[in-house]
Amino acid sequence: MAGYPAWDQDSAQSIIAGLAHLEGATLPILHALQEEFGHVDPQAVPLIAEALNLSRAEVHGAISFYHDFRTAPPPRRVIKLCRAEACQSLGCETLVDELAQDHGIVVDGAAHGDAIIETVYCLGNCALGPSALVDGELIGRVDAARIARLCDHGRRDS
Ligand code: FES
Repeated sequence: MAGYPAWDQDSAQSIIAGLAHLEGATLPILHALQEEFGHVDPQAVPLIAEALNLSRAEVHGAISFYHDFRTAPPPRRVIKLCRAEACQSLGCETLVDELAQDHGIVVDGAAHGDAIIETVYCLGNCALGPSALVDGELIGRVDAARIARLCDHGRRDS
């Protein structure tokens, strides 16, 4: 998910200009911007409105109507936390509560720093739960403090 360039008004402007002639250009433009930058920055709204002779509210409406469009850069790190039965018996729900209470991190909630945490059901590491998958790497016996560090610092063993 990482690797998108930072939002750039000039590049955005030329993407918009290149597609503005299309019939119903709003969606192709929004898709192209998201493909390029990983999100549709709110700064694009007036540019698109002007290019297509639409109101800002109309452009904004299109962005919010289609849930695929992001208005903020995607998180760099996705932590998948197992909450299936074996990991439950090894304390994953306590871990989820501690994350919320002690660190203000909500599983399946908004991004925390550069990371989001998503629930998954079984990572095939049941004996060593609670289990998490971090940037594709399986980690066993995780606790809330370690997950919080992974969110905050973006390093596995910080
Ligand atoms: S139940 Fe968590 S890894 Fe299998």
